[in-house]
Amino acid sequence: MRNVIIFISLLTLLVSNSYSSEFENAKDTIELRQGVMQGIWARIKRLAPFIEVDNNLEYNGQLAKQDAEDIKLLLEKSLNLWPESTNLSARNLTNATPAIWAVEDYFNKLYKNALISAKNLEMALNDNDWEKVDIAMCNLGNACGTCHASFRRLLTNQLANEASAWSGKYINKCN
Ligand code: HEC
Repeated sequence: MRNVIIFISLLTLLVSNSYSSEFENAKDTIELRQGVMQGIWARIKRLAPFIEVDNNLEYNGQLAKQDAEDIKLLLEKSLNLWPESTNLSARNLTNATPAIWAVEDYFNKLYKNALISAKNLEMALNDNDWEKVDIAMCNLGNACGTCHASFRRLLTNQLANEASAWSGKYINKCN
């Protein structure tokens, strides 16, 4: 009997431990993907004015190409940071809405669209094809905006300072 009790308490300990580490993992994953999104946004923010008017002295074509490549890599690397264990918006731990896991295929499709646009942007910058650069930037912005509209909860207190990150219209030429 005593052994059974010890066994059961050990089991409970193990289970709650693995539960809490799964929970910790989920929180780390959320933090990581939010960091990746911020990294993408930081690059878009300096890339957009460069594409709009090439007058940024602190920035140049080489950096623009690097940023486009980084955006592509960040999107690639973050594709698998959306396990169902991170569906925790009800607990205010993420702004990713439960819709992601309800229509996962659509979410993944939007992710891939963003990735394709980022690749096209990188290629167009490397080719100095400014018409294609504009198109790729508009498509990329569209991909950010469409996904956020469906899958990211925007809190009112974030509207003022972050709205431009969600809208997806990063250069004026986009319709
Ligand atoms: C396929 C969907 C999808 C695409 C594409 C996408 N995002 Fe996001 N983004 C999200 C979701 C969902 C969140 C919320 C993540 C969370 O809170 O866990 C988010 C969060 C963010 C955040 C806030 C991160 C934070 O600190 O909470 C920024 C900034 C951001 N995205 C920028 C961008 C930019 C810029 C692009 C386009 C280049 C982009 N995202 C493309 C889905 C997407």
